Amino acid sequence: MHSTETSNEMSTSEISTVGVVGLGLLGRGIAACLLSRGFRVIAVVPSPEEHSVAWQQIESMLDELVDLDGLELDVRNSAASRMVPCTDVESMHDVRFVIESVTEDMAIKQSVFDELERVVSDSTIIASNTSAIPISLLQQTRRRPERFLGMHWAVPAHSTRFLELIRGEATSDAALQIASDLAKQLGKDPAVCLRDVPGFIVNRIAYAMYREALHLVETGVADVETIDRSLRNTFGLWAASCGPFRWIDLTGGPALYARAMERVLPTLSSATTIPAPLADLANANATGSNSGAGFYDYSPEEARVWEMRQRRYTWQVKKWLDEEFPLTSKPEEPQA
Ligand SMILES: NC(=O)c1ccc[n+]([C@@H]2O[C@H](COP(=O)([O-])OP(=O)(O)OC[C@H]3O[C@@H](n4cnc5c(N)ncnc54)[C@H](O)[C@@H]3O)[C@@H](O)[C@H]2O)c1
Repeated sequence: MHSTETSNEMSTSEISTVGVVGLGLLGRGIAACLLSRGFRVIAVVPSPEEHSVAWQQIESMLDELVDLDGLELDVRNSAASRMVPCTDVESMHDVRFVIESVTEDMAIKQSVFDELERVVSDSTIIASNTSAIPISLLQQTRRRPERFLGMHWAVPAHSTRFLELIRGEATSDAALQIASDLAKQLGKDPAVCLRDVPGFIVNRIAYAMYREALHLVETGVADVETIDRSLRNTFGLWAASCGPFRWIDLTGGPALYARAMERVLPTLSSATTIPAPLADLANANATGSNSGAGFYDYSPEEARVWEMRQRRYTWQVKKWLDEEFPLTSKPEEPQA
């Protein structure tokens, strides 16, 4: 049951400082996004060394926002004075909104929430960037579960419009509303996930696709490169503009798709164990382009080419989306 208790009377205009716990791949982009929108950020990681590494990357994201997204130079230049690096959460006592983005480990996350609950006020919203831990489960041991929700970011967090908001069983309407308003202030296009299911919206759909792609490799229908190329030339064209339902409507409609699905669905993979092509690479600790080994091999130069290619593509799609589907910063009522 959804709690409708108003955990606080806060509005986003009262939020000028946001806490970010964890400055890894995601946390750095989240911090850069907040700084680019004028927020002060209290950022926590256990070691001072990680702060300097993270800050270099945050600066380069801010430069990218200046070069490609029209971020004003004075906002860029004041970012350093608005970034407060810390090694514990003690400085967060006045913060009204905290985003947790630490390692995807239940025990580590719970210990961070224990610390936060000790320090922040009862009305402070706490949002977890977990990819797959149910929010309702994380809420169970919380002293004030109603101010707790999921805020699922995507890479590159400083530039993508994507942000999923996940309502746990105990999340209040007020907490969801504040998170939604904040997301819009950050230039995001929030998608509210009304039920707390593992993987939320986009990861569930993506995992279904990954499973089927692996199944096609495993059963000898096509190799990895052929499948990548095929999807690039099809999904790549419509996924960013339509989404699955609009695409169905534009290409024959539900009647056509129902007939085709009847034949194809029974043949799709429904495996519940990790498919061999992925398991074998995972067992060999293949960590992808950064370390040179994944489904493809990468020299450092090739890894850099792919990173830059993806970055250029992201900006071009974002520019197109901003023109075709402009975002309004007007807060909307979250769905009940
Ligand atoms: N990688 C992705 O594409 C992706 C996408 C969406 C969400 N997420 C989620 O975001 C979260 C972070 O993922 P990531 O990829 O940035 O991980 P990461 O391993 O790159 O970074 C983890 C960060 O957590 C910090 N940390 C660990 N323990 C801590 C503690 N006790 N206190 C403070 N900081 C601590 C580390 O120092 C590091 O900065 C995870 O929950 C992950 O599932 C990841």
